[in-house]
Amino acid sequence: MIYFDKNRNTFYLEGKSFSYVFSVEEGYLHARHFGGRVGRDGLTWLNGAPAMAFSAMPPAGEGSTSLDVMPQEYASFGQGDYRTPSVLLEREDGQTASRFFYLSHEVGCTSDFGALPHARGGQTLKVTLKDVLSDVELDLFYTVWEDCDVLTRHAVIRNTGSEPVTICRAYSFCLDLPADRYETLCLHGHHCGERSPERTPLSHGTFRIESARGASSHQMNPFLALLRAGCGEETGECYGVELVYSGSFVLSAERSQTEGVRVQGGINALNFCWSLAAGEDFVTPEAALCYSKEGLGGLSRSLADFLRLHVISPKWAFAPRPVVLNSWEAVYFDFDEAKLLSLIDGAARTGADTFVLDDGWFGCRGDDTTSLGDWRVNLSKLKGGIAPLAARCRKHNMKFGLWFEPEMVSEKSELYRAHPDWAIGAPPRCACRNQYVLDFSRPEVVEYVYGQLAEILKTGDVAYVKWDMNRHLTEFWSKGLPAGRQGELAHRHILGVYTLARRLTEDFPEVLFEGCSGGGGRFDAGMLYYFPQIWTSDNTDAYARAKIQYGTSFAYPMSAMSCHISASPNHQTGRSTPFSSRAHIASLGATGFELNPAALSEEELEMAREHVRTYREMQPLVLQGDLYRLASPFEGDFAVLLLSKDKREGYLVGMCGLVEAGAYDRRLRLAGLREDFVYEIPALGIVARGDTLLHAGVLLPRLPDFGTFAWRIHGK
Ligand code: DGJ
Repeated sequence: MIYFDKNRNTFYLEGKSFSYVFSVEEGYLHARHFGGRVGRDGLTWLNGAPAMAFSAMPPAGEGSTSLDVMPQEYASFGQGDYRTPSVLLEREDGQTASRFFYLSHEVGCTSDFGALPHARGGQTLKVTLKDVLSDVELDLFYTVWEDCDVLTRHAVIRNTGSEPVTICRAYSFCLDLPADRYETLCLHGHHCGERSPERTPLSHGTFRIESARGASSHQMNPFLALLRAGCGEETGECYGVELVYSGSFVLSAERSQTEGVRVQGGINALNFCWSLAAGEDFVTPEAALCYSKEGLGGLSRSLADFLRLHVISPKWAFAPRPVVLNSWEAVYFDFDEAKLLSLIDGAARTGADTFVLDDGWFGCRGDDTTSLGDWRVNLSKLKGGIAPLAARCRKHNMKFGLWFEPEMVSEKSELYRAHPDWAIGAPPRCACRNQYVLDFSRPEVVEYVYGQLAEILKTGDVAYVKWDMNRHLTEFWSKGLPAGRQGELAHRHILGVYTLARRLTEDFPEVLFEGCSGGGGRFDAGMLYYFPQIWTSDNTDAYARAKIQYGTSFAYPMSAMSCHISASPNHQTGRSTPFSSRAHIASLGATGFELNPAALSEEELEMAREHVRTYREMQPLVLQGDLYRLASPFEGDFAVLLLSKDKREGYLVGMCGLVEAGAYDRRLRLAGLREDFVYEIPALGIVARGDTLLHAGVLLPRLPDFGTFAWRIHGK
């Protein structure tokens, strides 16, 4: 709920259990508190010293506190605040200073995001500021929900003058936190090794994570947490920020001379500049800000609830997901109609309910050198097109899905021959998987790709689309933009991607779109707005996946992670793992298969069917439950507990890594349970009170290398 105290000029934004407070002081927005729920008491006694040595003061009559020390809601440039600004504007005469003053506010408004993904619903506050030095206005938007502990923010910059203004930087938010010792936690990685959590003390200066690749990337996820001293998995305070954005981004935490920390971010300012004509406005992506007093676990659960309740499409957020058998690791490019028909028959024997035909079905694609952009069936491979495949799926009461890579074009393609200038950049371009990125900043390119995909989806044969993206942008240049506006390309491109995603998901609402980018290279809240699940990683090895899924869970719900059982030895790592281990790890998300059932023994086929049966039973926990991380695979054992909201049903999955001779018995203490409930763990023959399992725990089983366990827990 949002409340404005007009006597004290103070805004109170309250979510499920937090307060976010700021006031208008001498025209400036002064940040006062973000944390546990507080009374509506003004907090004016928290005003600190008005300046430090070498702090510049605002001009006479415009404030008695230096902006250098004031905790701010959105920091401008050139006004004596030497911390990193949130916005940097250049006017026609080259001036860059701006000083934003409060003008008005409105509670209960909406914002026009266009195709930009954003959280749905909630109560929104808009605070309008005016630059006293130029004809620019700024709207700061804040949204809160009663059912979650997240607040979203974004900004709109409006040119109210008659001359264009260049936006050199426009972050989504600025959060000035009080002096304290903080640690940061980010999710870094690489292809086949996404989202490893890394925790580091925040030193003076700026800690900055970013992507300048035109996509959120495998290398760094648009999520940053700030941990106060003593913050652990289930105790202590922390903040988390995640961008509802899939393009080049930055998130930073800057520890200044006052020991306060400025957290901010949004579109990466590197190579970004946007010309804002008279009368135009610019909308930044949205950022989700979360506060937890229950450690990192509480933070993850709040973010998971927020994404499921307000970002992921309500049609899919809590809906049972299909159990897919995907053709990629089963046959790669090597297939024809007969081979696929028998793969579908095999898929039916595993218990899967959807068969997805991955790369290689279009143009004349026999490997990765050709045909992206030519989204017509490769009739030399599939003589009857896709209809017989969809029909065979129907015969087994299964659905049919298809892979696309809509944003790409191969140099060897009809599309590139017809429109070489539709690719971003000018030749010679950097090579990457023999393909170029289509210039989605040009509406005609988006329109063309929409037409191609829509034609196939209109047949009604396709119930599932896997939307892949296998290279990042280089030579950032568009033939469709004038010389002075090339800095707009990367953001315009991702807006084009969103436009296509919006049109396709609106026009084909029954089709489930799964996101993918060489695995989890675009695993972010922006993509989740359109695609309820994302292929988590191209690494399908159970041990590696335990780490990747564990890391991903810091910022995203398990239901967003697509997790398949693959062959052993694994194709990426060469590691052999038991079928049960692959099944247990793959049950912690939207499950499926990434293998050829023809290679499975009868016993393994039965295990596959059993996996699907059990998964169907516990799937509500993946879709709706809370996740408790019990042991980190980055430190040794892996264990997580999925617990229903009423704490009556649980699913505990773990993996013990490598066997060690004479290893000691290790205890696993549970979390999240109700102390006064009595819980039964049938697999262990244990019946015990919640507090016993929380404080004394159970023993980890002794298992072979990479062995896993999966236990159901019932409480009352
Ligand atoms: C990368 C994806 O992550 C894989 O699953 C597969 O779809 C390949 N691309 C196909 O080229």
